[in-house]
Amino acid sequence: MARKIFIAGNWKMNKTAAEAKALCEALKESLAPLAGKVEVAVCPTFTSLATAVEVLKGSNVKVGAQNIHWADNGAFTGEISGAMLQEIGVEYVIIGHSERRQYFGETDATVNARIKAALKYALKPIVCIGETLEEREGGITNSVLDKQIRGGLADITAADMANITIAYEPVWAIGTGKTATPDMAQETHAFIRKTLVEMFGEAGNEVVVQYGGSMKPENSAELIAKEDIDGGLIGGAALKADSFTALVKNGIGA
Ligand code: 13P
Repeated sequence: MARKIFIAGNWKMNKTAAEAKALCEALKESLAPLAGKVEVAVCPTFTSLATAVEVLKGSNVKVGAQNIHWADNGAFTGEISGAMLQEIGVEYVIIGHSERRQYFGETDATVNARIKAALKYALKPIVCIGETLEEREGGITNSVLDKQIRGGLADITAADMANITIAYEPVWAIGTGKTATPDMAQETHAFIRKTLVEMFGEAGNEVVVQYGGSMKPENSAELIAKEDIDGGLIGGAALKADSFTALVKNGIGA
């Protein structure tokens, strides 16, 4: 199991650049006492990335984007390239979020192409996987995740995995207030861990696997206490400095 704890805020399509700047300034201060104890990142929209990097320079809060295209450049209206993200100092990039799979036609093949582009530009992918409610109730959670993991990580090497985070986000728990119970989440994380070890050997044990889906200050401690839950990818609770800070502190028992 990986025991590096990594908690990232996925701001989704929220916060103007001015709002993002204010939130970054607040987090820079509130999270400073946790330096060295936990890896923390925020993932604002494209228009706020440069501001976030600027404000958080020299702090212990890292910056991630929410998407990356697989091509170096070209006629791909509305997309963003690895070179563009790298140049402004972005460190992480979320890939394959369920909202992108659901609304924007993301597939395991496009996830795989985006991961390769991120690695090419030395950006660290946070790769999202997760089953829908229908799939969980149909008893096919593990086969859905197995397919997403093997498809998304096709041709990726064990050495690459040192720079890749997996975020397990059950779709039915995202933004619904319904959290997987810690035991239920742990059971699924153990399956993900087993699959990663099958694919990458010992390197699979070192991969940080985050949980996402209605994680909040009230439940981050018991979720992250679980053996195979190495942090979180946070939506709603990441949009305010006090709730995100409390979630991180509780999550690491600070
Ligand atoms: P919520 O924390 O709002 O449920 O969102 C989780 C998520 O989708 C993070 O990527």
